[in-house]
Amino acid sequence: MTKAILVSRTGGPEVLELKDVDPGKPAKDEALIAQTAIGLNFIDVYFRTGLYPSPAGLPFTPGNEGAGRVLEVGEGVDWLKPGDRVAYAGPLGAYAEQRVMPADRLVKVPDGISDEQAAGMMLKGMTAWYLLRRTHPVKPGDTILFHAAAGGVGLIAGQWAKHLGATVIGTAGSADKVELALAHGYDHVINYREQDFAAEVKKLTAGALCDVVYDSVGKDTYPGSLDCLRPFGLFVSFGQSSGPIENFNLGLLAQKGSLFATRPTLFTYIAKREDLETAASELFGLVASGVIDIQVNQKYALAEAGRAHSDLEARKTTGTTVLLP
Ligand SMILES: NC(=O)c1ccc[n+]([C@@H]2O[C@H](COP(=O)([O-])OP(=O)(O)OC[C@H]3O[C@@H](n4cnc5c(N)ncnc54)[C@H](OP(=O)(O)O)[C@@H]3O)[C@@H](O)[C@H]2O)c1
Repeated sequence: MTKAILVSRTGGPEVLELKDVDPGKPAKDEALIAQTAIGLNFIDVYFRTGLYPSPAGLPFTPGNEGAGRVLEVGEGVDWLKPGDRVAYAGPLGAYAEQRVMPADRLVKVPDGISDEQAAGMMLKGMTAWYLLRRTHPVKPGDTILFHAAAGGVGLIAGQWAKHLGATVIGTAGSADKVELALAHGYDHVINYREQDFAAEVKKLTAGALCDVVYDSVGKDTYPGSLDCLRPFGLFVSFGQSSGPIENFNLGLLAQKGSLFATRPTLFTYIAKREDLETAASELFGLVASGVIDIQVNQKYALAEAGRAHSDLEARKTTGTTVLLP
């Protein structure tokens, strides 16, 4: 038997319970891995509370990001062998010492990137990849606004967007977070708990506003985010840390300058193996070359997953957080 977190009923952090489980044997096209580090993500909160239903129903093991070593492979998996160091983003089931998963979701981790970094950056880093390289390919001359700049996705995205040549404006919820984001690619960071971020963006851009707003905060930042966009600009709503946007008024897109809006998710962008490989290799390349620094700023034992969730929801974390089995 091994240990895993099980959620038997949706609710607060207390529903994350460490239990004995049998991880099972890998079937065809699957691999069994022993995990050395697990990434914490805000999406884990949405599954825990039931905002996103678990596809397998209850009970389920949460978590979408991890790294470790291959223990055993099933039939048909000829490109992996026991001992290989691997990492992944999705599917659900990461909060475990060991897990069986589809082998085609795994990528090999290059030397020079630690297990903790890999576990903490696969989901967040590949999210930054698709947002900046696919949803809107960021280029020199672009001005972008990225909310929650000091968070897991935010710190990676700031460095990546700067590398792509954009003027990068961020928002963050404390003076310390503002400083941290400024040290990770952002040209300007607005403390949106103290200042009206839309008015500040107008000032910082001398009225020219932004080409794209990447908004993962949701309820508290909508519709202010739309006021930060120039005509024909793109509103990318990719999360809801403060609560979901309800009753999205499509008419606002016309009123605020023929804007575009999208609500993307990583799992569509990496559904094809070739896209997963492109995303991972671009991310690993930039981390290995030092363009992107992965800040593993919090570590918790797997058994303390509930405390990790409480801290994430209370806005106490910055950068990446890992759970250690
Ligand atoms: N669609 C996708 O493909 C995708 C993929 C990955 C992540 N996401 C989304 O991206 C966002 C960031 O994910 P992450 O894991 O890197 O988390 P994170 O940014 O490290 O943590 C969330 C941050 O949101 C900010 N926030 C603002 N209002 C909040 C509130 N009322 N409650 C809690 N936090 C609040 C906080 O930063 P401040 O204190 O600085 O405001 C907090 O630190 C999440 O919304 C997540 O769901 C989406």
